[in-house]
Amino acid sequence: MAAVNQVFIAIIGAGGVGKCFLSQLQVLAKRRPSPKLALCYICTSKKALYSSDYSALGFEDALQTLSSSSQAPLDLPKLADYLAAAPSKVVLVDNTSSEEVAEAYPLFLGRGVSIVTPNKKAFSGSYKLWQDIFEASASSGAKVYHESSVGAGLPVISTLKDLVDTGDEVTKIEGVFSGTMSFLFNSFAPTTGSGGKWSTEVKKAKELGYTEPDPRDDLNGLDVARKLTILARLAGLPVESPTSFPVESLIPNALESVASGDEFLRKLPDFDSEMERTKTAAEKEGKVVRFVGSIDVATKQVKVGLEKFDLSHPIAALKGSDNIISFYTKRYGSNPLIIQGAGAGGEVTAMGVTSDLIKVLSQIS
Ligand SMILES: NC(=O)c1ccc[n+]([C@@H]2O[C@H](COP(=O)([O-])OP(=O)(O)OC[C@H]3O[C@@H](n4cnc5c(N)ncnc54)[C@H](OP(=O)(O)O)[C@@H]3O)[C@@H](O)[C@H]2O)c1
Repeated sequence: MAAVNQVFIAIIGAGGVGKCFLSQLQVLAKRRPSPKLALCYICTSKKALYSSDYSALGFEDALQTLSSSSQAPLDLPKLADYLAAAPSKVVLVDNTSSEEVAEAYPLFLGRGVSIVTPNKKAFSGSYKLWQDIFEASASSGAKVYHESSVGAGLPVISTLKDLVDTGDEVTKIEGVFSGTMSFLFNSFAPTTGSGGKWSTEVKKAKELGYTEPDPRDDLNGLDVARKLTILARLAGLPVESPTSFPVESLIPNALESVASGDEFLRKLPDFDSEMERTKTAAEKEGKVVRFVGSIDVATKQVKVGLEKFDLSHPIAALKGSDNIISFYTKRYGSNPLIIQGAGAGGEVTAMGVTSDLIKVLSQIS
């Protein structure tokens, strides 16, 4: 029999973000004894931990027990059955970047299972999936939150929702949405000094762990396009997909199809002159070049790519791998509401997930 005011937590994914989330969950369970949080399921792509009677798994040793578990993950329809039959309400935490898991959100939500996630895939996939998710949530009452899908733990999505829900008119959203691109341009084209060669900075970013294993997965602009898709939809534009608007790729055409990330990095110096020309052209106007995304709500234009900024512009003055997001609205006039800070990292991303969980708990328990 379930304890009064208990909520079950099920976690898919225990990587960089998942591990940090689990430790924040322990703190949350201690700080807020009600509702009582009970971990009923945790899995990676190969292993799982759960019991048919929903006995609570220990937060402290869940990862260790999971690593030696011989249980396989439930396939997603079976997991939906298992969670829908739980004796208390359930919040599913998707800490993967899996498209397959994302596509099952309508199924979970339709069966009353709430979802919190940093996974961008569901909200930046087809517009039909976006509609199915929110329709399933509205019809069952299950909640869905995804703060960390844009800007990691920075309060970007909650701020945009608040602006829209309180009747402000968002006219434009502009910013640097990728920690990798931020690091690359802040060191390639700094506001003081000359900066390094483009290929040298890309290599450095890879060595420091700022890029994906194959840097082309950052340089193709798709990650930024996914985040823009999410924000544009929240601002009311029915954007069809992250490939339905102009996205500038920084991968030279000739290197699009080289076999590996390593080969790409070896050949990239041959194309340094292209990026150098772009940088010099901006310098001649007293500006710096940055990789930004923007949404013009009135003209319904969404785009991702290189833009030039005055040295005094907040986007030019960004440091390290920080993100910056500016909301231009009727209320805020010509001085935009600006959110800035770390847009990646396990702890800050998990913070967005944990704070989403707190919001869901306050509504379902
Ligand atoms: N890290 C950041 O700074 C950051 C910032 C913002 C947003 N995010 C988002 O947060 C999410 C997690 O990122 P991460 O850095 O923690 O990734 P990660 O370290 O690669 O971890 C992913 C975890 O998900 C598991 N997984 C993947 N596909 C699965 C599936 N189909 N079923 C069950 N488990 C599956 C993996 O298991 P295996 O190890 O067995 O494959 C692994 O435990 C992603 O959506 C990412 O875009 C991350």
